[in-house]
Parts: sequence; structure tokens; C-alpha cells
Amino acid sequence: MSRAAVLTGIGGYLPPRAVPNHELAARLDTSDEWITSRTGIRQRYFAAPGTATSDLAVGAAERALKSSGEPVVDTVVVATTTPDRPCPATAPSVAAKLGLSGAAAYDVSAVCTGFVYGLATACGLIATGTAERVLVIGAETYSSILDPEDRSTSVIFGDGAGAVTLRAGEPGEPGEIGPFDLGSDGAGRDLITVRAGGSEQRLSGTKPAANERYFAMAGKEVFWRAVQCMAESARSVLDRAGLALTEIDWLVGHQANERILRRLAEALGLPYERNIGNIAEVGNTAAASIPLALADAHGAGTLRAGDRVLLTAFGGGLTWGSALLTWPDLPPS
Ligand code: UT7
Repeated sequence: MSRAAVLTGIGGYLPPRAVPNHELAARLDTSDEWITSRTGIRQRYFAAPGTATSDLAVGAAERALKSSGEPVVDTVVVATTTPDRPCPATAPSVAAKLGLSGAAAYDVSAVCTGFVYGLATACGLIATGTAERVLVIGAETYSSILDPEDRSTSVIFGDGAGAVTLRAGEPGEPGEIGPFDLGSDGAGRDLITVRAGGSEQRLSGTKPAANERYFAMAGKEVFWRAVQCMAESARSVLDRAGLALTEIDWLVGHQANERILRRLAEALGLPYERNIGNIAEVGNTAAASIPLALADAHGAGTLRAGDRVLLTAFGGGLTWGSALLTWPDLPPS
């Protein structure tokens, strides 16, 4: 009998400091009107210096573990663009901070698609019997890599974390995750990138220019690729599952830009009312965006047991990915 991965808990965590648009407009050549109308974002959260991605990850993980009613997992997966350090991975620190030393722990690097990739690897570990219970966390401290002088990125991205717990279960159980669709196009790597800090630039070589250490994005080009890739990937995963869009209750797209999410719904022919999101309140939190949106929707009582949910994401790499799941019967958060 094949094993399925089943969602058993969810949690989100945001650092305490909300940064409204007007605060950014006070130091950058931008305005609340521009940010709201072009992105749908009203505020984002920035972690205080000294708060690392692992700290946000732990905040979300503690809530997910509590929601699952089961404090122990055997595997911890952290999807992040902003690890605590280039080496080692952040996941072992998260596991240790949660009192889960000994658990398998690794990072997944797929930028804004990271959570979907992380979920896919976790489901694979469960399907093969390598893991029984897995914590999958999307966590980001984008404020640590944003160029403070780049208005096109500073207004979009924010910090936060979202986490889910999975366990081995049976096909057809409420909470079952899958199938997946994953893809990439490395020819587009310069469109979303941090140029310095990797093996291309040797430590002993020329010191990187300050802006090469910051996150950079070719927003306009990425915009259209995001709509196209998420729509295609969403259709592929539905085909794989043998489901029609009319059988989907909720679409949770990567919270990149509200205009992208509206175009995505249009491209799929899905009423925007069936879109779940929180971009206005948290901005684009990259790998954290889908689990944070799910955590918020669960908290608000929007997601009901048995609802069929379609997740789709797009990000640096370029990468994209989609997954289906049925929402389980979870205790209110
Ligand atoms: O998470 C990974 C995936 N990320 C995404 O999918 C994000 C994709 N891209 C976007 O969300 C949008 O492209 C942006 C929000 C980054 C930019 O919005 P846009 O509507 O594509 O604007 P644009 O780049 O076409 O720029 C329009 C104008 C430009 O001025 P000119 O050349 O027309 O005079 C920009 O310089 O808006 C200007 N601009 C701004 N103005 C005020 C760009 N950023 C800002 C700003 N405030 N923050």
C-alpha cells in the first residue's frame, strides 16, 4: 500500500515591527499611492538586527507543532533565500532550537518557490519511508539583503515565516498533499539574484561592490514570467490530478504582487474571490509567503476541512512549482 503525506499542523510568525508604506516613502522616492496601486501592499514586517531567519522559523514551527498536537518530528526542512549563514544550512540550527537535535535537517534553496520545493521533498521522504513526521518551514529575513536605496525591491519584500507539519498517512485521507509540478529555467538566473557571496566571486579576489551583495530583481520581466509560469504549472498539476479548476475551492499563489495574482486568476479563468492571500498586510515574504497565507486563512476560518487547495509559486532560479492538497480538520489557531 502506498503512503501519502498528510498535513497535520500549521503556524505563521511575523517579527513585531510592521513597516507601513509611508515609512518607506519618507526615505525613498516613492509613495503610499504608488506602492498600494502597483503592488497591493500596505505594510510589511522587518526583523530587528540580531534576529536571524532561524528565529522566525522557530516562531512559526512552534505554532505548527502545537497545532499538530505532536511535538516531535524526525525531519526538518527549511526553505529560505536568506539563510543564517552561507554555511552551514539553517535547518539544523532550527531543529536544535526546537529541541529536535538528532532530526535530519536540511535547507532548500528555490527562492520564492522554496516552500513548494521543500514540501515536495518532504512528501518524497514520507512516501519512501525515510521519514514519518516532517516539519517544512518557509522563512525569510529579506530585510537583511534588500538594497536600502532600491525602491523597486524595498517596497515589495518583507520578513516572516510559515510552517506546516506532515505525517505519513493513507491516500485519500483529509490533508493529503500532492501531486506536484516543479520546474526551472536557469537561463533566467540574472532576473532575480544576489550576485556576490557564492563561488563565482572568490573571497581572495576583488571585493564585491556593495550593490552586488544586495538582492536585485528585473521586476517588469519577472512580472510576466511569474503569471505565465504559475498559470502553466497550476494547469499541469490539475492535469496530473485529473481535476478541473471548478473542483478547486481555493488558489493560494505566491504573494508576489496583487496585480500578478489578479492576472494569474484571469489566466486560469478563476474568480479572484477564490484566491487566498495576505499580501496587503505582509508584502512578499518569498519562501514564507504560501505557508503564511495558509496560516492566516486558517486563523480567519476561511479554510474548511475538505476544501481542495491549489498552491502555486514562482521565483528566482528561475523556478516554479504547484501542489494540490485537501485541507484537514485542524483545531482553530
Ligand atoms: O517574488 C519573486 C517574484 N517577484 C515578482 O514576481 C515581482 C514582479 N514584479 C513586480 O511586482 C513589479 O514589476 C514591480 C512592483 C517591481 C514594479 O512594478 P511595475 O508596474 O512593473 O513598474 P515598472 O518597473 O514598469 O516601473 C514603472 C515606473 C518606472 O518609472 P518610469 O521609468 O516609468 O519613469 C519606475 O522607475 O515606476 C517607477 N518605480 C517606482 N516609482 C515609485 C519603480 N519602483 C517604484 C517605487 N515607487 N517603489
